[in-house]
Order: sequence, then structure tokens, then C-alpha cells
Amino acid sequence: MRLLTIESSCDETSAAVVQDGREILSNVIASQEAVHAPYGGVVPELASRKHLEVVSPVIEEALSRASLTLDSIEGVGVTQGPGLAGALLVGISVAKALAYARNIPLVGIHHIEGHLFAVFLENPLPFPFVALVVSGGHTHLYRVDGFGRYASLGQTRDDAAGEAFDKVAKILGLPYPGGALIDKLASAGDPGSIKFPRPLLHDGSYNFSFSGLKTAVMQFVRKNPASETGGPLQDLCASFQAAVCDVLVEKTRAALRDTGIDRLVVAGGVACNSGLRAAMGELARETGVELSIPSPILCTDNAAMLAVPADYYLRNGIRSGLQLDAKTVWSLDSLAERVKD
Ligand code: KG4
Ligand code: ZN
Repeated sequence: MRLLTIESSCDETSAAVVQDGREILSNVIASQEAVHAPYGGVVPELASRKHLEVVSPVIEEALSRASLTLDSIEGVGVTQGPGLAGALLVGISVAKALAYARNIPLVGIHHIEGHLFAVFLENPLPFPFVALVVSGGHTHLYRVDGFGRYASLGQTRDDAAGEAFDKVAKILGLPYPGGALIDKLASAGDPGSIKFPRPLLHDGSYNFSFSGLKTAVMQFVRKNPASETGGPLQDLCASFQAAVCDVLVEKTRAALRDTGIDRLVVAGGVACNSGLRAAMGELARETGVELSIPSPILCTDNAAMLAVPADYYLRNGIRSGLQLDAKTVWSLDSLAERVKD
């Protein structure tokens, strides 16, 4: 089955053509980073307008790179939520119009479900597995028992990991979004040079908290103004990154140990982070767990990742009607309804 998938939940407009939920024929991603950078964060109204401007050319580009026309598309998958209402509605409206006009099935996909299965495009793995989703909006540990079968183990109580990277970058005067830049600077710094807190490390839960860590960085910068521009910047980035990675790794280690599951997926934009990839690799070596992390291009928001669950649902007769509406807040648990028979 050849699917067209569309993602517009935040600040990337993306369209992909994927064969059988497995083979990426095209995956076009138009980033709005430059639009939002002057504001230091995503401006919802600007995001919707930009999505509207580029969604058709992005879809056309996806079809053209796949050397296909709409005639050979057999179904449409679209991010239904969670995300920004106006942004989601752009992708959803276009997806509905295409499905209606071509008389092909449509299915709304949970954005996090896309992240969870992105790695299947490169290396499908058996269930169950533990998944850590770390992005700009989410820091969540799940037990995944199948499509639609997700049990939440823990999540952040405040900032998401990517949000913490972006806020710390802002404190340091780095451009938005700063995650990748902190990663780069950290590679030249000493992660042991500044002792930042490891929030909730030993609280016995699988929950996270990153807002106190961000405040600790702010206080450090106030007391040591040279770190804004001078030499210790790399050390500061490395020390902050190490604190985030330590917590993510230890909570994941506990989840693997307590569930007895020996497969781990790490996904979402922060899974691009080289420190986190190395630390999770080390965890896998120590515990004998099989680790799967998508290539960086499939970690950040993209439409191809939606095709894995979309293909599964459509093959199993699970589809959305044209009444499909954006869900700005949407619990992954509620997807169990879809697969209950
Ligand atoms: O998954 P994603 O593209 O969008 C959301 O669903 O949120 O994740 C974007 C987040 C941003 O916070 C960005 O700073 C972060 O991922 N990110 C990184 C790196 N690359 C992207 N954070 C740390 N290190 C990186 N290399
Ligand atoms: Zn995302």
C-alpha cells in the first residue's frame, strides 16, 4: 500500500510517500525555524500561516521526488494531534480534501505514535519494547506492546528535555532552537566541570523534571558572566547536557530493569543529541539491551514516520471519517480503543 502522509503539528511542514509502511519513496520537510527564530520560540499564528503557504508545494514535491502522481496514492495519513490547533488544521484540511477527492481512506495519527515508530522505517523490531520519546514538547517513557497498545511509565512534570535545551540556549544567547548548537558546543567541553543537579534521579519514579536544572544554569550564568561569551561556554554546555543525559539514561535503565524488557527505542528530536546517543549506547552495552535509535533525519518532525502506524491501521480497516478534527491535547492511552477487537 502506497501512502501519502502529512505532518504540520508544530513548525515543520512535511509530506512523505511511503510504500507498505516501510520504504520511504520521499520525505520532504520544510522547516519554519527561520520564521520563529527572531521570537525565540514558535509563534502559533505565524506557524499556521506558513503551513498554509507551503503545504501544497511540499506535497507536490513529495509526489515528484517519488516520481508518482496522486493516482497511485492508496491512502492518506495525517497528524491529528497533539500540537498547535491552527497548525494541525492545515494538514488535516488538506488530507481530508485529498482523501475525499480521490476516494481513498484517511487515518489521523498521534504525533508521538509517529515518533515511536520512526525507527521501523529503518529497522522494524518485535514487541514489546520500552520507548523514550524526547522532543521539544515531550519527555515520556512508554511500554509499547503493539500498535495502539501504549502504557505510560513516566513523563516530565514540567519542561520537556528539548524545551530545556532550547531555554538554556536562550539563556546563553544562542539562536532558537538551540538544542543542536548546545550539542555541538558540548562536544568541545568538559562534562564534569560544573556540577549541575540531576532532578528526580533517585525518587523511585520514571518521571522527569527539567525546570530546576534550567534555573541552575541561569544562576550559574548570573554568577559567572564570562560563561555567556568566554571559554567556559563549551564546559557549561557539556555539563548541562551531561545532567540531562544522566537523568534520561538512569530512568530508562530503571524502566528496562523493572519491566524486564530487553529492547529499547529512543525517539524524538532530542534523540539527535550525540551525548544522549552515546550514553544510551553505553547503557545498551552494559545491560545487553537491543537499542534502536532512528537516523537524525527521522528523529525530528517528519511525515514519513506517520506512515508506519498509518499503514498498520489502514490495512486493518481502522480509518478516520471526514469528521476527523484536530486534537490539541490527546492521550496516547486513548488509542487502545482503536485496536480493542
Ligand atoms: O521532535 P522534534 O522535531 O519536535 C517536537 O515534536 O517537539 O524535536 C525538536 C526538539 C527541539 O527542542 C530541539 O532543540 C531538539 O529537539 N533537538 C536537539 C538536538 N536536535 C534537535 N536537542 C539536543 N541535541 C540535539 N542535537
Ligand atoms: Zn515531534
